[in-house]
Parts: sequence; C-alpha cells; structure tokens
Amino acid sequence: MPRPFSRLMRRAARALPALLCAVSVAGHREGLASDCPGYRVAHFADTPHGFSAALTLAGPPCNVFGTDIGDLLLHATYETSGRLHVHIEDAARAQYQIPDAVLPLDRRCGVEGGSSSGGLRVKLVHSEESGVGFQVLRGSEAIFDTAGWPLVFEDQYIEVTSRLPTDANIYGLGETPDWFRRDPRNTTRTLWNRDAPDPFRENVYGSHAVYMELRGGQFHGAYLHNSHGMDVVLTDGAIQYRVLGGTADFYFFAGPTALDVADQYTALVGRPSQIPYWALGLHNCRWGYRSVGEVDQVIANYSQARIPLEAAWTDIDYMDARRDFTFDSSAFPLAGMQRQLAELHARGQKMILIVDPAIQANGSYAPYARGREMDVFVRRSDGSEYIGQVWPGYTAFPDWFAPNASRWWAGELGRFLDELPVDGLWIDMNEASSFCTGSCGSGRPAGEVPELPWLTDRPHRPVNRSNPLLAPPYAIHNPEAELSDKTIETTALHANGVAEYHVHNLYGLMESRVTRDALVARQPAARPFVLSRSTFAGSGAVASHWTGDNSATWLDLHVSIATVLDFGVFGIPMVGADICGFAGNTTAELCARWIELGAFYPFARVHNNMDAVPQELYRWPTVAEAARRALAVRYALLPYIYTAYQDAVERGWPVARPLVFEFPAVPAVADNDRQLLLGDAILVSPVLAEGARTVAVFFPRGRWYDWYDHSALAGADAAVTLDAPLEHVNVHIRAGRIVPVQHPAMTTAESRCSDYELIVAVAEDNTAAGRLYLDDGATLASPHRWLGFAYRDRTLWIEQQSGSYTVPRPLAKLTLLGVLGVRAVAVNGTAQACTIETAGNSTMVSALHIDINAPARISLL
Ligand code: GLC
Repeated sequence: MPRPFSRLMRRAARALPALLCAVSVAGHREGLASDCPGYRVAHFADTPHGFSAALTLAGPPCNVFGTDIGDLLLHATYETSGRLHVHIEDAARAQYQIPDAVLPLDRRCGVEGGSSSGGLRVKLVHSEESGVGFQVLRGSEAIFDTAGWPLVFEDQYIEVTSRLPTDANIYGLGETPDWFRRDPRNTTRTLWNRDAPDPFRENVYGSHAVYMELRGGQFHGAYLHNSHGMDVVLTDGAIQYRVLGGTADFYFFAGPTALDVADQYTALVGRPSQIPYWALGLHNCRWGYRSVGEVDQVIANYSQARIPLEAAWTDIDYMDARRDFTFDSSAFPLAGMQRQLAELHARGQKMILIVDPAIQANGSYAPYARGREMDVFVRRSDGSEYIGQVWPGYTAFPDWFAPNASRWWAGELGRFLDELPVDGLWIDMNEASSFCTGSCGSGRPAGEVPELPWLTDRPHRPVNRSNPLLAPPYAIHNPEAELSDKTIETTALHANGVAEYHVHNLYGLMESRVTRDALVARQPAARPFVLSRSTFAGSGAVASHWTGDNSATWLDLHVSIATVLDFGVFGIPMVGADICGFAGNTTAELCARWIELGAFYPFARVHNNMDAVPQELYRWPTVAEAARRALAVRYALLPYIYTAYQDAVERGWPVARPLVFEFPAVPAVADNDRQLLLGDAILVSPVLAEGARTVAVFFPRGRWYDWYDHSALAGADAAVTLDAPLEHVNVHIRAGRIVPVQHPAMTTAESRCSDYELIVAVAEDNTAAGRLYLDDGATLASPHRWLGFAYRDRTLWIEQQSGSYTVPRPLAKLTLLGVLGVRAVAVNGTAQACTIETAGNSTMVSALHIDINAPARISLL
C-alpha cells in the first residue's frame, strides 16, 4: 500500500532540501527513502568473477521522486586485483548509461575465480525493513555498507546510502571550491556543471563522483559512473547519493595508499595524457587586451623584467565580434597575429588562443552555415534549432553526439590553424554556458547581437513544473532557479535522441575529446595541449584544467590549494588556478603571495578579468621579485616536475599532493590544505594571510632541508613558525629523496639545454633515492629513459631502468645535503676532475661530466 502521509511529507520536504540534508540520513529509518520498500533477491547466481542477482521490488512502489522500477539486475565483479565493480541497473536497460564512446572505460570481465579485489570483498545483506543491500569489506571492516537503508531505484531518482565513520576523512567529490577534507557532517556536493565564478561550497564547472577515504591508516576509493545531476550528501555517519536517473554503477578501489587509489581509478577512467614539456612553463593571459601590439608589449615587459614567460595567451578579444575562428581585423589582424606567433617561436615561446563551443547563429558566418549543412547543432525538443546566448550573441551549440560534429569541428579548427598554427587551445564556456534560460533566439533576426552586459538582471522565467525534465521531482541543490539556467535547457535533444537532462555533465568532456582528436589527426606526432574549463570523470585523458573564475581574495588563494589537490583525486593532474585572481582587483601583496604558490601549481597561468587592474607579474617590483625567485625554483625543478607528471601518465599519481597522501598515519595532516607537496619530495608552504611575514609550516617526522640555504630541520609531526618575507616562499626538500634539477632559464627549452644536477637529500640513515624520466618532451611516440638514483654510505648509483632515449646533457653537479668530508670523487672507479665546496651541512660537487645514458657508480671519497 502507498503511504500517503509519508509521501506528503516527502513532497513538502522537496521545498526544504537543505533541512532534509541535515536530518535525513543520520539513522537507519530516517532517510529520504525510509518508507520505500527496497528490493528483495529473486534470483542469485555465482559467476566466474563474482556474482549476479535479479532484484525485485520488496513491496508496493513508493514513487518518491519518480516511478519505481520493479526489476533490477545486480552484478558484482572482481574486475582487477585492485578494483571491484557493483552495478545495479534496470532489468529492461531503459535507463541512460554513459556510452563507451564518450568515456571509454577499461572494461574487464574480471579476475577468474576471483573472490577479492586487493583484499576487498562484496556481499549482499538483507533485512526485513529495508530489503537487500551490499557491503564492501576489507577484512571485517565494511568500507561501503548500504545495509539498513532501502535502495530506491526510480526513473528519475536513485538513492543509495552507505554508513561512514562520523569523523570520516573523505577527499574528492566535486568540482566545488571547498576545503580539501570534506566536512563529514555537513557536505552537500551537487554535481551539475555550471558556469559560476567559484562560489564557496557550490557546484561549478565539472562533475566528479569519485572520492578517496582514509580509514585506519589506509585509503580506498569509490566512483559512481553516472552522468546525471546528483547530490552526494555527507552527514553524521553516512554518505547518501541522490541521483536524477541512470543506474547505480559503482566501482570500488582497494588502495591501500592514496597513490594506489589514484592508480586504480585512472586505470578505469583513463590515464592523464602526456603534455608537451613547455606546458610546464609560466603562462600569461588576461581578458581585455586591446590589441596585438599590447600583447607584444606584455611579452617584451616580461622579458625585460627577467621573469620567464613560456606562453602568451589571448582571450576572446582577438575575435571579430567574439566569433570563433575569426580575427578582429583592426585590433588583432591575422597578419599581426602571425607575426607575433613567429616572433614567439623564434624565442622559444608559445601562443595559445581561446575557442568557445557556442557558434554565432548567423547564416552569413561560415562555421555556422557549414555546421547547419552538416546538421551538427543541438535541437529543441520540437526538432528546431536550439538557440542560446553567449559572447557573440545568439548562438547554436555543437552537439557532440551528432554524427558529423567531430568532422565539422576538426574542419573548423583545421581552417583556423592553417591560418595561425597556435601551440594549444583553451576551450572555455563548455558546461555549456548560455546567458539565457531556454532557447532564446527564436523570432529574432539571425546574427542579432544582444545588448551587453548580458542579462545580469534578467528576470527568471516561471519554472515549468509540469515537465519532469525541467523540474525533476527531486531538486538537487543546484543554486539556480532551475537546472536549465545558464546552460542548454534540459529538454533539448541530442542527435542520439537523448535529452540534455541525461548528458549535461558530459559536454565539456566530449568537447575536450573531439578537440584533442582533431589536433592529433592534424599533427599525429605532436602532443596536443588543450585546456578545458568543464570536466568529467576521464577528462584527464584528453585535457588539462584551470579552476575557472576565482577572485583576487585571500580566501580564494587558500581554496586554490584544495581545488588543485581535488583535481589530483579526479585524475586531472595538470591543473592550476588563475594566479593573482581573475575577478576583482588584486594587490601587490596578494599577487606576490599568489605567484609564490602558483609557481608550484602543476599548471601555472596568470589570468585576469577585463574589469580588474592589470596584474602581469612585472607590474609591481615586489611581485616581480617574488615571481623571479619562485619561478627560479619551479624552472630548476622542471626535470623533477616532468618526472612527477610522467608518474601521473603511467600510474595516475597526482603531481600536487596533500601531506595526507604521503603521511596517512599522521592525524594532524588529514585536513591540511595550507601546504602542498610536488611529487613526494618538495614541500611548499605559502603565506595565505594578508600582512603575515611568518608562516606555520607543518613538518612530518624526518629531516627537511631548506631549498635555499640547505639548513636541515628536524620534523616532529608539528608546526614550526618560519620567516616568510614578502618576496619569499618556503620550500623544503624531504630527506631521503634525490631530486633532479636543471638550470632555471627564461624558457623551458633553454632550461632543458643545461646540464643536469642532482640534489641528494640524505636521511638520518644515510640513504636517499629518486628517479628521473626523460624523453623529447614533444612527440607522442618519443623514446624515453627512466633513471633510478640510489644513495647509500657515500656511494650514488645511477641505474638505467628502461628506455632508449639519448639524454643530450651530462650530469654536472651534485648537491649533497647532510654529507660532509668529501675530498675526491670517482665514477665507476675512475677519479674525476671536479670542484668540491662545503657550506654548512652540505657539499657541492661541480664541474662533473657524467654521461647518464649508462649506469654509473659515483663514489664520494
Ligand atoms: C570565462 C572564462 C574566463 C575568460 C572569459 C572570457 O569567464 O572563465 O577565463 O576570461 O570567459 O572569455
């Protein structure tokens, strides 16, 4: 029997979602779905790789936020030694599931005879009250446990709840600007891609339903493979998924380290792709440059200030009437842009331009006309063309599901790149962003450009509650009047017949893929560089990311660390925030502190809004000095950062890491997002507060060497207050590590031409180890070389681990931290001419010439 009272209560609760969050999942019987019947097992079978079960509704449907689906199939599969898959789908398979063409998952039929994935086991559990549930166990500990909460599986609503420790350490779930450790008592994470200027704790550009949890010193992970809008709620003792459709397609990762989880997750959704080496240099951008000449001046000013600049970016300013693939003939004429590109290239620098997905709906604009001819644009539900509004006025949106869309896009990009072969593409506004709600151009002359500024005070249209695609019965916490606000309406139709409602979160991922594919098809040997604002699971394989429209505030400076760390969890390691802040006026102090941190973002770009004061790094003497100092550290570390990036490519390991990933046994670092590690050896501790000239640096146990003066500090799992003058950022080297470096120069190319050096940071037990990855930094099929370094008792071994790349430069210098008394050096038993100097507790051996293409034993005598 339906229970009308509860249903009434629930419907009332829709109006009070925030209140519900606070109270809904704390106890077994208090969840949103507490009155739903759950499912019972109608049939169970062991399979070669796990088991499967047919589930059937255990009582009368509750139809809480949609229509209950009576028959389900559950498949539990031990897919790999670290990955377990639990998929609950509708037996009729009518619910939308992400196609492999959009996100090619590593599908595995499973470990033969498997009964565990890296120590994880799954079992079904039953209860009278809530029906069947499942537990994922590590030993006797349930790391995911739905027992006690009925599964709700409806056409527009899936609810899955799992028990968590009340003080759970959860990382991931986003994209949302928030502290890195999610508040286990009060987090509602909404996944609905949205063009919003980084509001704290609200959903923004990307969707990643993946988390890592640290429990009892070990990490595990969980990923829900589903493109629908959803809330993921963390509240006292539970995590609850409330999903607007699709299936309950969960993957669990055994860890047990954070790096293992990152490895297991990216093995599933796609490893980050290789980037060109130059992408690790400093990038400068701003919205609002008025001419190609102004950008010339910016480039020259960087060079004059001796601040390295790798790539000059131009925003939509270069376009004619803000239309893709065009040039403003007076301010940014093609000939001027071509000249600028040639000059940049002559100096070893790069150019990157923005491209937005929205195409001006104007019959005389050729990309639009060709797109119409090839039928590549999103349609309204009545079949007519869907018109939104973006920078160029009324626009059509490419439908990446349309059979011709990738060919058309590759064609348009190809024409553009034939004219101006820029080095990388910045794809923005791809949530997709639209400034009006619903199709808004009908009845207007094609190409009409609406008044700007664009509808900031526009009245909301009345929400059509009779259409469940526009107003689904469960309202996720998207802070707009309706799901369709600021984007393509949820009723719009894609060429595969699927409504935007189901695939909204995939738009940026799909655009990233077709863009990358187009670049690779054009130049098959070259590594493309694509920066995308909107992302989804798996985007790391096709794009890099920046964190969108932040503000020039101290809060955003701090939050940027958490967001950069989040993207390490999401498998998109090449990430950074707009340095010095995008919106609002920065100050010299904030900008200095920001470059001191931003120099250590994996992706380092200064970017600024058109309304804000200019903030190129040479604008203030203090900022210029801070930039020169911090970037000198970054550029010295390029071989090390590139090696860390290759670990991301091969194993999904984040480049920027929180302390908790490396020191999971130290409780005090569980919520540390004030510092970051680059790789596992370099600890960066920026100043995040105005006026501060000291910084509290948390040092895990062990020795830490100051980057600049090499002094050693004994970490004691405690914070130490260190001096942090305005132009100085604290950087420490972890003892026990060997860090490869090169000479910092004005471009990455120049830096790559210098000799190699090793910083050997010796631990208390007189050992250290490290690695170096080398290749040509430019092509997809480059030969490579992996080197291993091991130091023990005054001997340093260079081991050849794999590969045949010929390293053009020798090893010329050793900086031995914590080593004294070296009087001579021998390589493979032969004495070397060299210079030996001692300072404090370190020894520098320079003027060496050691070929690192062969194994070497370096003895310090
Ligand atoms: C969006 C982008 C921003 C860019 C602007 C103009 O707001 O996030 O980076 O400058 O559009 O293209």
